[in-house]
Amino acid sequence: MTTATSPAPLLAEQLAADPKLADARRLIHEALDARRAQLTGVKPADPARKQGYEQTLQQFSAQRGGNLWYPYLGSGFGSGPLVELADGSVKYDMIAGIGVHFFGHSHPAFVDAALDAAVSDTLMQGALQQNTDSAQLTDAIISLANASGAKLNHCYLTTSGAMANENSFKMAFQKASRDGNPADRMLAFQGTFCGRTLALSSMSDKPNNRVGLPHALKVDYIPFYDEAEPEGSTQRAVDRLKEYLTRWPKHYAGFKMELVLGEGGFYAGTREFFLKLIEVCKEHGVAVIADEIQTFSRTSRPFAFQHFGLDEHVDLVNVGKATQVCFTLFTDDYQPQPGLIAQTFTGASSSIKAAQFVIDTFANGDLYGENGRVMQLTGRIRDRIQKIAADHPDRVCGPYGLGAMIAFQPFDGTIDDAKAVCTDLYEHGVVAFLCGRSKARVRFLPSVPAVSDDQADEACDILEASLERVANRR
Ligand SMILES: Cc1ncc(COP(=O)(O)O)c(C=O)c1O
Repeated sequence: MTTATSPAPLLAEQLAADPKLADARRLIHEALDARRAQLTGVKPADPARKQGYEQTLQQFSAQRGGNLWYPYLGSGFGSGPLVELADGSVKYDMIAGIGVHFFGHSHPAFVDAALDAAVSDTLMQGALQQNTDSAQLTDAIISLANASGAKLNHCYLTTSGAMANENSFKMAFQKASRDGNPADRMLAFQGTFCGRTLALSSMSDKPNNRVGLPHALKVDYIPFYDEAEPEGSTQRAVDRLKEYLTRWPKHYAGFKMELVLGEGGFYAGTREFFLKLIEVCKEHGVAVIADEIQTFSRTSRPFAFQHFGLDEHVDLVNVGKATQVCFTLFTDDYQPQPGLIAQTFTGASSSIKAAQFVIDTFANGDLYGENGRVMQLTGRIRDRIQKIAADHPDRVCGPYGLGAMIAFQPFDGTIDDAKAVCTDLYEHGVVAFLCGRSKARVRFLPSVPAVSDDQADEACDILEASLERVANRR
């Protein structure tokens, strides 16, 4: 729409342009930069903080109804991959809140997002409270998703990966019902993780996560790709899929695919593997749902479906973690009827503004492509793990995964070995985490743009020393 005269500035625009805000922002960044400059490396805990820290941890654990996995209480400050804990220690955060802090800790752009949000009228946006920044973000996400041929013309924001998955499943079921199919089942890969709502606990292939829960969603599992047996494993998966589709014709609303299994152990599929399965799904009207909650940002392209060249085939795509706001992308065919999807909260104003920075940086920066920073930095970490594995084959198998999803199997792959390595790493200044099922692995989800080559090397030095210490204790 064109207007003859430009409109008078809104009060919000006047506030944003107020020089007092620019002054305040400058002062905040000066204070922040001064502290960031002091956070230069790993540091042990301060003994003077030990007692108070432990008391807080104990009380918090009791009040929240269970221990934290690590005795980790952040101070609220960090710099890139380094994070300061409330006990005074400083560590390399190589797991980034399980993939959340892709840009590292205390990133200036995220501080700006919080400052912009601080002078915005609402802390949270949602159902009846959507500001223009939600509209701008939605548009940017759709452009990024459709950059190489996908037709994901719609995007619904939400506050968790679980809700993004739930929303996509509801749209898939509703589409199946519109098509006259009695759909009441879903498909997923063995080892999948989906989130922790009642329905998703039924679907995640983790029995411990659903102890005592009713079975809320019917799910059938397809074996994942096995790189040791590419053709055989692909054929097995396709055969299993066809078997289910014959047993329950028209009963499947969608196949939820993690293109790199996350919690399941950082196993990557291939384009050919996915295409063979997708072909069968399309023949049977089964929605192809890519769960990119962990993979987004971590391959050679922002979306893993783009990395694998599946742009034309994905019907629904779910994203979370690195974006700060979660969302479901979907094609025209999957548009929900009114009433199916709504939330009081679709995102915090600060998260929405931070997500805009994330999406813009992914669209315009040098992170992606075969020689982008994601593949470059993670290639360096992989090479180093490979060298440790070559020097000490009894201590490490791997590396596994794809791009910035890096895992290795310590020792024989028992859960105790993997926990011992995680604990030793943590005590010596690197935060990593477990993944995998039959063989336990240790994973890194590095904050790619924030990690220098030297910092990556130092974290790997700590890993090598940790493996040696654990080997000596076994
Ligand atoms: C692949 C995948 N799907 C879904 C989820 C659930 O996301 P959230 O914990 O934000 O609900 C996760 C979280 O780890 C995930 O890795």
